[in-house]
Amino acid sequence: MRLEKYLISCGIASGKVIKKIIKNSEIIVNGLIENDPGRSIDLEIDLIQYKEKELVEKELKYYVLNKPAGYITAMSNPVNNRPIISDVLSKDIDWSGISPVGRLDKDTEGVLIFTNDGALNHELTYPEKNIDKEYYVELSKEISDEDLAKLETGVEIDNYISKPGKVKKITDKVIHLTIIEGRYHQVKKMLRAIGNRVVFLRRIRFAKIELGDLKLGEIREVHRNDIV
Ligand code: URA
Repeated sequence: MRLEKYLISCGIASGKVIKKIIKNSEIIVNGLIENDPGRSIDLEIDLIQYKEKELVEKELKYYVLNKPAGYITAMSNPVNNRPIISDVLSKDIDWSGISPVGRLDKDTEGVLIFTNDGALNHELTYPEKNIDKEYYVELSKEISDEDLAKLETGVEIDNYISKPGKVKKITDKVIHLTIIEGRYHQVKKMLRAIGNRVVFLRRIRFAKIELGDLKLGEIREVHRNDIV
């Protein structure tokens, strides 16, 4: 197997980053620095190390949860013993090494992806990748066509202009908003910037993964191809 392919299957980074890691002399094969991504390796014989640890191929896992409101997106270390998302995850699955992709606010529901594929996690959360996140948003006030246009152009939040969103008006007080950024409280801040307020928020799509018929608190195993 090619060294590069093996490193991808260990989930440490995406192909492009892995090339850099190899070129930066960070991969050690049998005690020697290896700079050739195409080097052939035999897992029965060769010892491959990264950051002074032996690498082991792992089965890459992907799950999607319909996150209920009331839980902080964290797998451990509860802050002041508040409920965390791992409390709702099935105890039949071994969650070690698996993390949520990005975060949803405590009061937000909807699509939350979990994986041990570090490369995919990075790809989905890296701002330059422009990954779609679509939200069902209930508002405190009716939204005007002018305000919809502002969301589609970009609004000022935290001293920067948000990238243009895509908006579908469902009713006067409900919209579907698709954004490619994922800053802290992004949707709430965008709506606040146009003088409105989010009263309920649910993520209905992250990349290709849609909420569909997944019930609140339900988790489903998916494939990488279902996500991107
Ligand atoms: N934007 C928000 O404001 N909150 C979320 O949980 C997700 C996006």
